[in-house]
Amino acid sequence: MTRVLVTGGAGYIGSIAVSMLLDSGYEVTVLDDLSTGHKSAIDSRATFVEGSILDSASIAQSLQGCEAVIHFAGKSLVGESVEKPQLYMQVNVEGSTNLLNEMKSAGVKKIVFSSSAATYGEPTESTVSEESAANPSNPYGASKLKVDELLAERSASDGVAAISLRYFNVAGALKTSSGWLRERHDPETHLIPNIFKATQEFPLKVFGTDWPTPDKTCVRDYIHVVDLINAHISALKSVQPAHHQIINLGSGDGYSVRQVIEAAARASGREIPSIDVERRAGDPAVLVASIEKAKKVLRWSPMRDLNAMVEDVFNSAN
Ligand SMILES: NC(=O)c1ccc[n+]([C@@H]2O[C@H](COP(=O)([O-])OP(=O)(O)OC[C@H]3O[C@@H](n4cnc5c(N)ncnc54)[C@H](O)[C@@H]3O)[C@@H](O)[C@H]2O)c1
Repeated sequence: MTRVLVTGGAGYIGSIAVSMLLDSGYEVTVLDDLSTGHKSAIDSRATFVEGSILDSASIAQSLQGCEAVIHFAGKSLVGESVEKPQLYMQVNVEGSTNLLNEMKSAGVKKIVFSSSAATYGEPTESTVSEESAANPSNPYGASKLKVDELLAERSASDGVAAISLRYFNVAGALKTSSGWLRERHDPETHLIPNIFKATQEFPLKVFGTDWPTPDKTCVRDYIHVVDLINAHISALKSVQPAHHQIINLGSGDGYSVRQVIEAAARASGREIPSIDVERRAGDPAVLVASIEKAKKVLRWSPMRDLNAMVEDVFNSAN
């Protein structure tokens, strides 16, 4: 049986990956320092190494018996990255360099990496393909782009088989036999979990209601976390020696902020209190992934729509 190292396997996306990999017949080792993750989210069938990707000995220990790595561990708050760019370079870039060095020592050559749509920055085209220019507008996006470049270098120099998956907005939750695995970020910066926290006193802010979109609010691409992990499992099977590919993961569909609010109202059976405020600097009107490459290379298609994402988030929190 194939054993996979999942870095960041105590986090939101990583913990769901661990559970789905185990259900698909893989063995799993988790390496996580629990800085933003939760020990209780790690499936009890996985082997857990508590440690950091900044510590080579912990990485070497966690790689024992593994044939491949899915690398989720890292820092992922845009605002924090602007305040602490060094931290993002250290954890995301040095941490990934350490991981690749230890993989080389251990003879592990396959890696699937969590990259981000943040690598594209503020693209001028509303449908973003892998050919769109990478021009990150914050240190978080810059750190992810550096790791994508590092993987390209290591595939050329060391024969590493790598895929960088560039996620758009991930949402949803997974119900397992021991309960829901869901987003538990602190602070929570993502729209869908925050929408259910809106109250009359603290309404949801809608940034800009004068965009050139059908209902004048911003349009974004949301992907269900279960669809996202299915694409990772396909990517594990699709990596090729000495080859690095960048693949977008989204639903390929755009939803406006108003559509998300309406879906949340339907799922919860209550009105979502919201107020219209000024546009935020740097927000493009429409940002949707082209997912043609994912469909072709990974033989994958997203199966879950916005209603499924919002319902799962609501049900997992109630
Ligand atoms: N959530 C999204 O919408 C989204 C979008 C694009 C990309 N991503 C990327 O996906 C990955 C997972 O995101 P998430 O939302 O699950 O975040 P998360 O914060 O819930 O998970 C990250 C995990 O990494 C662990 N970690 C952090 N630093 C570590 C270190 N030095 N050593 C070992 N473990 C460490 C944390 O404890 C946590 O368990 C991240 O790399 C993120 O940048 C997420």
